[in-house]
Amino acid sequence: MEITLTGITTTGAPHLGNYVGAIQPAIAASRRTDVQSFYFLADYHALVKCQDPALVHRSRLEVAATWLALGLDIDNVIFYAQTDIPEILELTWIITCVTAKGLMNRAHAYKAAVAENLADPNNDPDKAVTMGLFSYPILMAADILMFKAHKIPVGKDQVQHLEMARDIAARFNYLYGEHFVLPEAVVDEKNAVLVGLDGRKMSKSYGNTIPLFEPEKSLRKLIMRIKTNSLPPEAPKDPETCTLFQIYHAFAATEESAAIRERYAQGIGWGEMKQILFERLNAELSEPRQRYYALLEQPGYIEQILKKGAARAREYSAPFLQELRRAVGIQPLGA
Ligand code: TRP
Repeated sequence: MEITLTGITTTGAPHLGNYVGAIQPAIAASRRTDVQSFYFLADYHALVKCQDPALVHRSRLEVAATWLALGLDIDNVIFYAQTDIPEILELTWIITCVTAKGLMNRAHAYKAAVAENLADPNNDPDKAVTMGLFSYPILMAADILMFKAHKIPVGKDQVQHLEMARDIAARFNYLYGEHFVLPEAVVDEKNAVLVGLDGRKMSKSYGNTIPLFEPEKSLRKLIMRIKTNSLPPEAPKDPETCTLFQIYHAFAATEESAAIRERYAQGIGWGEMKQILFERLNAELSEPRQRYYALLEQPGYIEQILKKGAARAREYSAPFLQELRRAVGIQPLGA
């Protein structure tokens, strides 16, 4: 059976852009029965970006609760935390030893960090570059190779990491025999990029996000803050350049969007449109939001789910790691 695998970095609570672009399609895919899917919290990856223990802890809970609240099918998929699978770290070292440093030198995220340092001639090129940042793609390769995953749904920014995982797997296979499956990135071009409060791409780094499970009152307030132009209510308006419509469109059914387009053509007041957008979002999110806040109160229950998932995942990873240790020459003496 084909194996797919999705890693979710646990840094901060997800926003509407994450939901539309990645989470919603992944939740839908979790019901597929023609593939075996692995979904995991990439909490070791979170340590690369975040060294605040309270935030790391909180993000693990929030991200797990988010996916469960939205209806991730945990009977069908194997859902676990990376940090509960010790074999992943063992594999990370084994493949680190076959990974060329030159390959890692080419990683976009690492190169960007160095380039930023060099923009200031007084800076050391290695300033604030940890080995975690440098080796990030190797850990990611281990996540994937551990479960012999064929297809990895990712955003465009992750495609290079998938190429690196293939390179590493091929190098290992060449040295030690065909143990790894070469994974493929699946980039969904259709997936919407959502605009944020200020009309730019919704992104944590722009500070223009709407948190997915913002409580009702503050959700309304945030929507009221979205930038619009100053056309009077009766003037016909262009939906395509309007942030309110873009967000509405990402959530609404085709007919609903068509009806709203019609209203734009006739002239619609921004106050009314903001109210319509609020109601549409709230209709979709209020139930999962309730489940989310209930789940946040039951961290022990979430932990149990993750531990069960980890036990299922380790049925694959533990025997495979034994095979890999033997392949490189680590096995009981005399055996
Ligand atoms: N690096 C990915 C991201 O930032 C998260 C991730 C970690 C991942 N390990 C993975 C994604 C393995 C897919 C497969 O989005």
